[in-house]
Amino acid sequence: MTAGGTDAMSGHLPVLYAQVLDGLRVRQDGRYLDGTFGRGGHAGGVLGQLGPDGRLLVMDKDPDAIAVAEARFGSDPRVSIRRGSFADLATWDAATEAPLDGLLFDLGVSSPQLDVAERGFSFGKDGPLDMRMDPDADESAAEWIARADEAAIADVLWTYGEERMSRRIARAIVARRAEAPFLRTADLAAVIAANVPRRIKPGQKETHPATRSFQAIRIHVNRELADLETGLDAALDALRPGGRLAVISFHSLEDRIVKRFIAGHAKAPAGNRRLPEAAPFVPRLRIVADATRADDAELRANPRARSAVLRVAEKLGVEAAA
Ligand SMILES: C[S@@+](CC[C@H](N)C(=O)[O-])C[C@H]1O[C@@H](n2cnc3c(N)ncnc32)[C@H](O)[C@@H]1O
Repeated sequence: MTAGGTDAMSGHLPVLYAQVLDGLRVRQDGRYLDGTFGRGGHAGGVLGQLGPDGRLLVMDKDPDAIAVAEARFGSDPRVSIRRGSFADLATWDAATEAPLDGLLFDLGVSSPQLDVAERGFSFGKDGPLDMRMDPDADESAAEWIARADEAAIADVLWTYGEERMSRRIARAIVARRAEAPFLRTADLAAVIAANVPRRIKPGQKETHPATRSFQAIRIHVNRELADLETGLDAALDALRPGGRLAVISFHSLEDRIVKRFIAGHAKAPAGNRRLPEAAPFVPRLRIVADATRADDAELRANPRARSAVLRVAEKLGVEAAA
């Protein structure tokens, strides 16, 4: 790793690198978990601040990410590696037996996942229509597109992509698949593009018309929002009092879940005088950083950071006696 966290080998730039490390406030002998290893940009930064007694646990759904983790850190006795979803964090003894001092979820897809056409995430690079972060997961995007009914497709495009043309696109997908199945990303992107009117605001770069739909299908295929909700609950349980949770989101649906989760544990709900007195609110989190965004220098170096939002919270409470 070079200073600032650039991984020259894969060309992957970890977003909000310094802010994540500041937020986690890494202790030399602490235990940290990176639930979304990717190419290990942030994990490498945490490891660099740990002493010989520190521990770093890393997870990723993606076998390619895990292969990189093994190659980079597999021989380091301070590092434990697990392939799987952070939604299953509570089932990993290494993560839950001794409480954690810090935990990071850097959500969404990594640059290598987007850049390798064969992973099937990209409308810009033709590849098999897959989109699974975990290639062994139940259903690829092609399989889902082949079986879902029109209303379900429209619902996913609207709910996870906020795509205003969701019904029209769903109708076109169902009509086209009756003639030939969708097997390639470029094929699906072309049908979507033909059904989305071009909207270019003055001074703005045009986004590809399939951007919102591809995001929506990816979120659905990978159950990203359900995993996030389960993962946040598990993260809070796995942290020790004083431990820090850092989450980077890339779109408003994710960020809303993170914001509500943190606020729900940090702030007492507004009272309702008509309801009987509820049990007193006991906060479990303290907000450390509310919606940190990339600065101009980072945006120039890494345009993918433009939608990133970092939230950091600290677990409150008293350490349980050993
Ligand atoms: C934005 S990248 C992380 C980049 C990483 N912080 C770095 O600096 O290299 C997101 C990674 O999280 C993984 N991922 C997404 N959701 C996951 C989940 N629920 N459980 C485990 N890994 C997940 C993806 O496979 C991807 O590799």
